[in-house]
Amino acid sequence: MAKEPVRVLVTGAAGQIGYALVPMIARGVMLGTDQPVILHMLDIPPAAEALNGVKMELVDAAFPLIKGDGVVATTDAVEACTGVNIAVMVGGFPRKEGMERKDVMSKNVSIYKAQASALEQHAAPNCKVLVVANPANTNALILKEFAPSIPAKNITCLTRLDHNRALGQISEKLNVQVSDVKNVIIWGNHSSSQYPDVNHATVNTAAGEKPVRELVKDDAWLNGEFITTVQQRGAAIIKARKLSSALSAASSACDHIRDWVLGTPEGTWVSMGVYSDGSYNVPAGLIYSFPVTCRNGEWTIVQGLSIDEFSRKKLDLTAEELSEEKALAYSCLS
Ligand code: NAD
Ligand code: LMR
Repeated sequence: MAKEPVRVLVTGAAGQIGYALVPMIARGVMLGTDQPVILHMLDIPPAAEALNGVKMELVDAAFPLIKGDGVVATTDAVEACTGVNIAVMVGGFPRKEGMERKDVMSKNVSIYKAQASALEQHAAPNCKVLVVANPANTNALILKEFAPSIPAKNITCLTRLDHNRALGQISEKLNVQVSDVKNVIIWGNHSSSQYPDVNHATVNTAAGEKPVRELVKDDAWLNGEFITTVQQRGAAIIKARKLSSALSAASSACDHIRDWVLGTPEGTWVSMGVYSDGSYNVPAGLIYSFPVTCRNGEWTIVQGLSIDEFSRKKLDLTAEELSEEKALAYSCLS
């Protein structure tokens, strides 16, 4: 028997990530190829015509997972949020070349405050929220603070793109399949202060699982260029494309929700921006990227990993930036 459709909200759906993301969802990349979906697409009135064009293309693509009336395209946040099971919050003001992420803070926190209320009042119970729009961690925190009846564990932000970038860099360096590399960690903020950590990462080889450090044999690269490449990758894409990353962001958003809903493979963790409970001495009350495993639709922070002195400093530095962002966000709201 066919499954009941899942309602998936994409805000900013007329933008470039939205344009890459909605066909992935409609093809089952996010929730599985046997899971019908009803797409709710929200954008602002100046983008209404473009949004309607995306809706027309979704009809034209004849995706089997979307029923005849399975696309809602609207500029009304209440209509967009009503009954949604999953909300992917992409809408906002993107960083342009030369702009720091903090420059876009004030534009985005007021959007996230307003959309928090719409979700709180109209989404389905237990709706899972993924914030993609920057500053992603702090937008998610604002959304959480202004939607107090949504459980904190249901509000996350995207650092899976950074996680996937780290996997990609290791796979290129070692010339191995990216699917054979696992358990990198992105700690902290989705910004250049994030800490991509390979201390627990492994590669599946013909001789079994080997630590990344043992195979790379180049600690200077792993502690230097590897980290800065991943930290600066978003800016490098903006420099090259004159637009921020879109296909990789959309694909990583699908990975984030898929693993959250359907579970992470045995022995594998992924990075998600989640509400800190103080694990690893990260201040509680920030949305911070941790290594997590997922089972039965719930994430759990991986505990007990050793943190050396080099890593400790980096975990603290990115936490400090998030605390500052939090203060700045509140000052923008007052
Ligand atoms: P874009 O400008 O192409 O699209 C953004 C869309 O949001 C536009 O269509 C705009 O009209 C819409 N929008 C603006 N205000 C809105 C509101 N109040 N409600 C609903 N929609 C609204 O930008 P993009 O390239 O798609 O990027 C979207 C966001 O994602 C940006 O903030 C970008 O910095 C961020 N991003 C995050 C990651 C990540 O890994 N977390 C990666 C890439 C991009
Ligand atoms: C990215 O990581 O590609 C985006 O978040 C772009 C940015 O604003 O850094």
